[in-house]
This record gives sequence, C-alpha cells and structure tokens, in this order.
Amino acid sequence: MIADLDLPEDRRDRVFDQPTKGRVEPFEFNETVAHVFDDMAERSIPHYREVQRLIATLIRTYYQKGTNLYDLGCSTGTTLALAAQSLIETGLQDFSLIGVDSSQAMCNEARGKIDTLKIPRDNVEILNEDLLETSLDNPSVVVMNYTLQFVKPMLRETLVERIYKNLNHNGVLLVSDKLLQSHTDISRHFVDQYYAFKRSNGYSGLEISQKREALENVLIPYSLKEEENLFRECGFQAVDIFFSWFNFTSFICLKKGS
Ligand SMILES: C[S@@+](CC[C@H](N)C(=O)[O-])C[C@H]1O[C@@H](n2cnc3c(N)ncnc32)[C@H](O)[C@@H]1O
Repeated sequence: MIADLDLPEDRRDRVFDQPTKGRVEPFEFNETVAHVFDDMAERSIPHYREVQRLIATLIRTYYQKGTNLYDLGCSTGTTLALAAQSLIETGLQDFSLIGVDSSQAMCNEARGKIDTLKIPRDNVEILNEDLLETSLDNPSVVVMNYTLQFVKPMLRETLVERIYKNLNHNGVLLVSDKLLQSHTDISRHFVDQYYAFKRSNGYSGLEISQKREALENVLIPYSLKEEENLFRECGFQAVDIFFSWFNFTSFICLKKGS
C-alpha cells in the first residue's frame, strides 16, 4: 500500500524559482527545503514513488523479526511510512524502524508524517543525529535512499564497512544514488535526459541551473563501477541493481551468512 503523497499548494517546491543575486548558496536540507521536500523528491528524482514501492517490497522480504531497520538520511519519513504499512499488512505488529537525519526540520516532518498515518510510535523512532555517529544495533536492513551521495567521499568507505560489520547475516543494505557514467559523452546524454525529466515536471531552466549550482560539491556522485566496488570491497558478497533510470541507480547489497 502506497501512502497518500498528494500535497497542498504551499508544499510545492519553489526553492530556486527566483534569480539569485551573485553566487547560489550551497544546498542545505533546511526548514524551507524540508517543508517542500516531498514535492521536490517526486519532481526531481525519476520514478521516486516506484523506488519507494520497491524498497518497501524488499523490506518485507529482508526484515528479520526482532531486529532493527535503519533508514539513514530518512528526510520526511516516506520510506519509513511505507515500510511500516508494508510490514503491518503482513500481520507483523512487533517491528522496529529507526530513521536518522541530521536535519531537525526533516525529523519534524518525518515525525508528523508517521503520526498522521497513525503508525504506532513504538514501531518508528526518529533520531536527529549525524548518520556517521549513529550506532547500528542489531540491524537486518539499512536503507540509504539518495543519501550516500551526500556523504563526503573520504568517509564513505568507513561508513559502508561499519554497516557491513554491524548487519546481521542475510541482512541487506539498500542504496539509491545519482551516478556518473563511464564515458563523458554518455554522462552528458543521461544528464540531458534528466533535465528533460525535470522540465516535464514543471521546473524552469532557471530552477534547474540554480539547483545544479547549489548541489556542486554537496552531492558528489560516484561512477557505477566505483559505487559497486565500494560495496564489494567493504565485504558485501552479493551486489545487484534493483532499479535503474539513466543516471539514477538503486542497489541491493547482501551480507551472506552461514
Ligand atoms: C536526498 S535526502 C534523502 C531522501 C530520503 N531518503 C527519501 O527516500 O525520501 C538526503 C537526506 O540525508 C540527510 N543527511 C545528509 N547527510 C547526513 C548525515 N551526515 N547524517 C544524517 N543525515 C544526513 C539530509 O538531511 C537529507 O534529509
């Protein structure tokens, strides 16, 4: 079951619709962004709803009773809400989902969404903290949906190694990220497709170019090979793709156990 993500007019993303004088400030997940984030995600991330639906399906398969699920960089709690609804549908009542986000505004939105959907508070905890500091206690599933790309590259290996080490056997890490292609011509073509997608969702050329500038050095994409190698080198025995659209890819990384 997909939660109702239809949004009122004041929740429409207009963050970059006015020309900025001088340099565009680096992108932040502040209160303004958190307020319109659901609309921003739907109109900026290709097949956002479908990826969320697939993640909820995977969680149903891989979440192990009596363990914790961590959603690192949970933003407004969409993945947590859908995961909770999906697990409840299976008849499970005793499960534990933990959302982590360093943005207080995002955590407030997430808490509000979970409460509005009447998902019991005992089942979903929201932690306002840096995911690099979060202790991972007994996880069978760790989700990083479009979040790893915001972690400084020099810190990614330590983080993924720690996730691998802490995951239960047969546990999974689910990651979605924007990626670079292996050849610059293909990368350029894929990015053109991506901007066409954004235009078709109502973003103007100004909004697209100002957001691109704001994200420079904030969202740092790896290539498909780099990202896959990162997961394998950190220990994951099975790494596969469960969704891909031009320069966006979602991975499932499995820790095999005896
Ligand atoms: C693109 S959003 C993730 C979207 C969300 N996972 C979803 O599926 O809707 C990235 C999120 O990661 C959070 N974030 C980035 N770096 C973080 C960090 N070091 N610790 C915790 N949260 C972080 C941001 O505040 C933001 O809410």
